[in-house]
Amino acid sequence: PDIRPLIAGNWKMNGTRAELDQIKAMAEGVKTPLSEKVETLLCPPATLLYVATALCDDSPLLIGAQDCHQKVSGAHTGDISAQMIADCFGTHVIVGHSERRGDHAETDHLVRAKAEAAHEAELTAIVCIGETLAERDAYQTLDVLKRQIFNSLPEGATAENTVIAYEPVWAIGTGLTPTNSDIEVAHAFMRAELVARLGGEGAAMRILYGGSVKPGNAGEIMAIENVDGVLVGGASLKADDFLAIYAAC
Ligand code: G3H
Repeated sequence: PDIRPLIAGNWKMNGTRAELDQIKAMAEGVKTPLSEKVETLLCPPATLLYVATALCDDSPLLIGAQDCHQKVSGAHTGDISAQMIADCFGTHVIVGHSERRGDHAETDHLVRAKAEAAHEAELTAIVCIGETLAERDAYQTLDVLKRQIFNSLPEGATAENTVIAYEPVWAIGTGLTPTNSDIEVAHAFMRAELVARLGGEGAAMRILYGGSVKPGNAGEIMAIENVDGVLVGGASLKADDFLAIYAAC
């Protein structure tokens, strides 16, 4: 199938009102004919969600959140629900980022529940998976990906409501990336798993690569088979870098 790639930025715990000019510049910068072929998304911290969606009102740049609670509402101090994200006009939510899995002991099953909560609120869930360095060194990469897909993929996942993001944990924020052939093998494996589970929906589901994506390597990574976009951390903080990555596809 013809898959429309997604270039997604994740600001993590960065960004205050002082950085809104970066979002404004991104919203303007993606207004090119390329936007018909390539989808763009920025996930700022929750504190900026509402104002960010207002800034993107007349731009193809979509706004998403970085996490959501698995429940709709209730006594969960500090958490935000998928409904709250939708209420701020967010369209996507990242779930199961390795930093959430690590910092907050999130399990595959919890990640699945969060993705299902996202779907309830009509958000697209970006489900993150990826192996640690120890797992890679033990040649367990594909086993880990298989387990994470099996246990974190939400019930009712479609190519429309779910995106997979493959982020080798050791490649995040380190400047290290797998070789292109390692990325190709991992993405082909995930594609086969998704097709085995979901048939045509799995064939059309976007699989993003994340981990030290920069303007300088984005083009070649995007050219790898079964890489349908990128999830960018550090290089999404500056509009110039984000737009250079967008242009590189
Ligand atoms: O969500 C984004 C990833 O964790 C990648 O972060 O581009 O800073 O390596 P990075």
